[in-house]
Amino acid sequence: MNTPVTVTVTGAAGQIAYSLLFRIAAGGVFGPTTPVRLRLLEIPAAVRAADGVAMELFDAAFPLLADVEVTDDPAVGFDGADAAFLVGAKPRGKGAERAELLADNGGIFGPQGRAIAGHAADDVRVLVVGNPANTNASIVAAAGLPAGHVTAMTRLDHNRALAQVSAASGVPVARLQRMTVWGNHSATQFPDIAELRDAATGERLADRLSPEWVADEFIPRVARRGSEIIDVRGASSAASAASAAVDHMHDWVHGTPEGDWVSVALPSDGSYGVPEGLVSSFPCCSVDGEWEIVRGLEIGADQRARIDATVADLQAEAATVRSLGLV
Ligand code: NAD
Ligand code: LMR
Repeated sequence: MNTPVTVTVTGAAGQIAYSLLFRIAAGGVFGPTTPVRLRLLEIPAAVRAADGVAMELFDAAFPLLADVEVTDDPAVGFDGADAAFLVGAKPRGKGAERAELLADNGGIFGPQGRAIAGHAADDVRVLVVGNPANTNASIVAAAGLPAGHVTAMTRLDHNRALAQVSAASGVPVARLQRMTVWGNHSATQFPDIAELRDAATGERLADRLSPEWVADEFIPRVARRGSEIIDVRGASSAASAASAAVDHMHDWVHGTPEGDWVSVALPSDGSYGVPEGLVSSFPCCSVDGEWEIVRGLEIGADQRARIDATVADLQAEAATVRSLGLV
């Protein structure tokens, strides 16, 4: 057995956490030989419900679950954290855009960023899930956490894009490599199949799928999938979001598969013309436990226009953050 890892999940009484916590406790993120100590952080009004979740975690008798603590104090919740899933935030309702949540949710992330900087492990890995995820992550990063250690989740968009292409092409998800989601986890995101290939044959999916299907069905479908789920399910995605969070942190810790990459939103280093510091989604590999942006991809005119549009959306959210005095 390895040394136990301490994992903080905020919004522990919420929908996503109800799936996520059990996947983490079962070893789905850190592996079958690493015990986990869970810290469940909630607001005071939801601590009792989080206590109930902790009781269920106990009842599941997970062999890897070393300890569970419920708290409403960020200093306690992030104490010694090796990984933090920042899920706790309000979801949007039908017909709303995620950016409209900034006024309600943005204020959560400055104090949490500072608590992480003050109490978590020096090399803590942070994944922001609460929406609007990219911009909330930029608020967390402003607390001065190590470069590259604050990320936002676009893995759900990445997985949705893989699922759509697999259904349309007949190529199993397991054989699809090099999907990219650029930009914001919003309706302006750009799911990009330019580099996508069938690992078994080497075939480029862009040669198999019609450009009309990609432009008129695939891109809008993936970009609007969150709204579609809210419409049909009556609540925002939860189990698929938890699954994507597991995938994100798993690959960060264990590395991305040879020849493949995944989509990760992190502070830009200026790559692909995305202004430095903007938390934007890029194709990334995890190497020795650190995310690295994949370099040197050719960007055509249509890709450039779509990346610029989602970057403009992020810049508008950054302006809202400044006007609300959140950083
Ligand atoms: P939910 O309403 O079921 O649960 C949210 C929980 O967060 C609640 O229990 C609430 O008490 C708690 N919370 C609120 N403020 C908190 C704080 N300051 N500290 C700790 N906990 C706090 O919502 P959910 O369905 O679990 O979704 C959570 C967030 O994740 C939403 O903002 C949603 O839009 C977002 N989301 C993001 C993605 C993504 O792909 N990035 C996917 C799905 C959902
Ligand atoms: C999603 O993509 O499902 C989440 O961001 C929830 C939402 O508001 O769409």
